[in-house]
Amino acid sequence: MSFRLIILIQVTCLFAAYIISSCKRKDPQYPVNNQETVSLTPYKIKYPAHFPDMVIPDDNKPYKERIDLGRMLYYDVNLSNDGRACATCHLQSYGFTVPGMVNQMPVLSHVNMGWYKNFMWDGSKTGGLEEVMQFETREFFATDLAKINNIAKYKTLFKNAFGVDNITYKEIGYALAQFARTMISGDSKYDRYMRGEQPLTPAEESGMNLFFTEKGDCFHCHTVMTTTDNSFHNTGLDSLYVKEMDKGYYNVTKNLEDLGKFKTPNLRNVALREHYMHDGRFTTLEQVVNFYNSGVHKVVTLDPIMTKPGKEHGLRLTEEEKSQLVAFLKTLTDSTFLTNKEFSQPE
Ligand code: HEC
Ligand code: HEC
Repeated sequence: MSFRLIILIQVTCLFAAYIISSCKRKDPQYPVNNQETVSLTPYKIKYPAHFPDMVIPDDNKPYKERIDLGRMLYYDVNLSNDGRACATCHLQSYGFTVPGMVNQMPVLSHVNMGWYKNFMWDGSKTGGLEEVMQFETREFFATDLAKINNIAKYKTLFKNAFGVDNITYKEIGYALAQFARTMISGDSKYDRYMRGEQPLTPAEESGMNLFFTEKGDCFHCHTVMTTTDNSFHNTGLDSLYVKEMDKGYYNVTKNLEDLGKFKTPNLRNVALREHYMHDGRFTTLEQVVNFYNSGVHKVVTLDPIMTKPGKEHGLRLTEEEKSQLVAFLKTLTDSTFLTNKEFSQPE
């Protein structure tokens, strides 16, 4: 056989193998664990046209049965061993957070998480929703699997949704991830303005312009309104890192360059919060804006964006401009999301 022919055969085989494997991956009839075929109802995740595409893993494509199951689990105290449900700390009326603090930190909201690549204030969890949700059930709640497997309703629902007889952290995490992916906020005043449905007041519009231009310069990190830039920044909140928690992403990587860096938080429904930043040090949006305007500490790992030319002495906003910025932040409140029955406690 000539050398060329061998190569040709090899390439053809590789190509055929690729086609076969990619066909298998895409078959919606074979869900995770793959034990047997279950019949599922495909679900189209809906979000506004001005949002970026959501990337969904092939092995957990959205199905109605899995989303419903995830929602049930989210509200079920059986998931924990101390009477708590996810919804105990992640309350819909506050954008799936709570007003107070837990373990000295504000509870992160659950909104538009389908676009996240890292989780937790200090980014200690990376990957996708499937990974973080498995962590939540396996480690954070240490869910008692024997208990869940003994609940007749779950036996049937997990069998229908995942084709499994034995429920593990994987299916629980995957179901929670499905529900989380549907928790989309896209109907705030700002979204309606973007769609040409509702005008902003002159103050809100000026605030928006400050936010999205070099003057306020917020958009570099709080990039798209769907979510965050999925990245970590030191915004100069501290000059020294006395408390362990203030070290942020450094605690994850142990790399000195990451000292004081935090995940850019989602600003949707931000006006409903009572505490801001990873340690909840600010209690009003005015304080947050004052910090950005004139409180930034010039530390070694400070994000270069914070001291761009012209910003050496802070943003130099007038009182009026500061209040415009706050007015704009308030347009990110989405009451449709906060009252959407699809996310509420199931009957
Ligand atoms: C006792 C209160 C409490 C309960 C109960 C709780 N959480 Fe949280 N959750 C928090 C706090 C506090 C944070 C922020 C933690 C951090 O950044 O280290 C958080 C963060 C998260 C995040 C990361 C969000 C982001 O933007 O990075 C996810 C995901 C999450 N929780 C899911 C869940 C799920 C799922 C459950 C139920 C299985 C649950 N939580 C139950 C308090 C709670
Ligand atoms: C260099 C990136 C960067 C820039 C620029 C930036 N932010 Fe932030 N923002 C962050 C990070 C990171 C945090 C979280 C910091 C922490 O918790 O320690 C944050 C937190 C916030 C919070 C608190 C959210 C919450 O849930 O606690 C608000 C509000 C906010 N920023 C608004 C703004 C505004 C308004 C501007 C423009 C004046 C701005 N940000 C500019 C990265 C940035």
